Amino acid sequence: REQHIEFSRRFGELDDHAAFPSDRHPDYPHLMVVTNIPQADGTPSVSRYSGRRWHTDMSQTLVPALGSLLRCWQIPAVGGDTLFANTTLAYDTLSPGMQQLVSKLHAVHEAGGRKLDANHSDKAHAAEQKRISPPVAHPVARVHPETGRKAIYLGEKVKRFDGMTEEESRPLIRFLNEHATKPEFVLRHSWHEHDIVLWDNRCTLHMALADFDQNEPRYLERTTVMGTPSGYVAH
Ligand code: SIN
Repeated sequence: REQHIEFSRRFGELDDHAAFPSDRHPDYPHLMVVTNIPQADGTPSVSRYSGRRWHTDMSQTLVPALGSLLRCWQIPAVGGDTLFANTTLAYDTLSPGMQQLVSKLHAVHEAGGRKLDANHSDKAHAAEQKRISPPVAHPVARVHPETGRKAIYLGEKVKRFDGMTEEESRPLIRFLNEHATKPEFVLRHSWHEHDIVLWDNRCTLHMALADFDQNEPRYLERTTVMGTPSGYVAH
């Protein structure tokens, strides 16, 4: 764990996961736990539904993550992969008209939104996360500070564009998320124990697949590298 943290520090300052108090490792605040293993008292793991929607880490904050480093400790025999979508490629393959349109928009990113199953989300968790992190708006075509290239910065934490209603926003959000996560833009990582995967949150979306036997343990730990300030609190 010390090595995971020290290695991650080579990429920048680490987040202490104060925005996710329930998911922090009890002894290492710079590690966030993603697991379905029940807690010591037998209650279900709070992170058992983490990451099951397309998202980019910490986009519900004013300092969204630069990168994340996820280490696998235990993985079911079948399934439990993680998907990563290249959102620079997604922006580049939009028509010039759509690029112009999205470049004028800001999207409101909201905390919470863990899926319980295909049709239900964890409302109590969403309310607590929203209290900690009020909704924040970021540019939809966000410029990567190092490459200068634009990437679609969206995902399923977004329900509306700033200044528009959810109903008005929904068709375009759906199109952009579906476009950004087309199979040809997606890498699928099948985990082995002790793998560590790093990604750039400024130009990718990712999602954990729930296609495994929930009786089998899945246990991963993540460090989060802090990015540069972005966006504004949305009303
Ligand atoms: C995450 O979204 O950081 C976790 C992804 C996973 O559990 O595969």
